[in-house]
Amino acid sequence: MRQLIRRVKISGTGSYVPEKVCTNEYLESIVPTSAAWIQSTLGIRERRIAAENETTSDLAAKAGLSAIANAGLRPPDIDLIIVATATPDRKAPSTACIVQDKIQAYNAVAFDLAAVCSGFLFAMSTAAQFIASGVYNNVLVVGADIFSRITDWTSRDAVFFGDGAGAAVLSHSSGDEGFLAFRLYSDGRGKFNFTVPGGGSEIPLTEENIREGLQFFTMNGREVYNTGTKVLSQAITQVLSDTNLRIADIDYMIPHQPSIAILKKTAEMIGLPFEKVMTNMDRYANTSGGTIPILLDEVNRSGKLSPGTLVLFAAVGSGWTWGASIIKWS
Ligand SMILES: CC(C)(COP(=O)(O)OP(=O)(O)OC[C@H]1O[C@@H](n2cnc3c(N)ncnc32)[C@H](O)[C@@H]1OP(=O)(O)O)[C@@H](O)C(=O)NCCC(=O)NCCS
Repeated sequence: MRQLIRRVKISGTGSYVPEKVCTNEYLESIVPTSAAWIQSTLGIRERRIAAENETTSDLAAKAGLSAIANAGLRPPDIDLIIVATATPDRKAPSTACIVQDKIQAYNAVAFDLAAVCSGFLFAMSTAAQFIASGVYNNVLVVGADIFSRITDWTSRDAVFFGDGAGAAVLSHSSGDEGFLAFRLYSDGRGKFNFTVPGGGSEIPLTEENIREGLQFFTMNGREVYNTGTKVLSQAITQVLSDTNLRIADIDYMIPHQPSIAILKKTAEMIGLPFEKVMTNMDRYANTSGGTIPILLDEVNRSGKLSPGTLVLFAAVGSGWTWGASIIKWS
């Protein structure tokens, strides 16, 4: 999407992370890794882990209610709920329908969107189409994941992810502020560089498959690094060109949080001083669909965003999926 028909703004943000903290030192005691390596290479000190009885929809509902209140709205004001998640409560129904019931937003249509770590960016863009075209006025977009449930806690790959949810309400705007551009991309040739092989129609879960650990994610970290740094910078260059902006015009970048090294390399490639790149992965690690909206909520509530502030979003995830967007804050 290059040009919106009606302007679309972010009118509220919210987030929720589980209480339980899992430190690098704890991981060092259970998997073959080192706390110092995790901190220096990935930029992570600790992450949150959902309680046994906590579900993705629980996290999403709390983040969603917080965003709705922050927008000055009530759940019946919401026309559409999109939940971006790779760890839904169940295969059916959608987590969005469960969230709808939990927050009692019964005037809303609700569906899930699957783009893994790019999910929130893809969901925001989808929400913006409905508002721009005049179909809906207020859309709740949630990114929520509980990767601790698809993690093999005997593998060193257990260090990358944490659990959490963030949300934003997108609304019709009558001013000149709001989203200036979105660019989304996919390349299914990279489909198995991050994957959860079991539990779908291809490999239904059987006792044997579970014993082999096919319910857990597998990833090719080197490919994530190589592809991530390449495609993020390309998508960002494209949205800057779409909006006739220069990188120096950008006040803050609120990116997905795959690793501090990927963020530093991307900032270097696009010429953005790293102070403008927001990160909270030291505390939360990679919460997949949750990263951008949790960080956005932190930045918003810290008072950094004022009318006219230019914010750059960028994400890359399994699929491959990736993209970037620019918003002029209102
Ligand atoms: C994770 C990453 C740093 C690994 O580097 P790599 O060169 O691809 O992988 P290698 O397996 O060759 O490991 C390189 C070194 O890191 C160490 N290493 C890799 N994973 C490790 C882990 N979880 N804990 C401790 N050390 C680890 C290896 O032991 C190796 O050390 P050595 O050079 O002393 O032998 C790199 O792939 C990366 O930055 N990936 C992007 C981040 C990411 O995957 N995020 C999550 C998904 S979005």
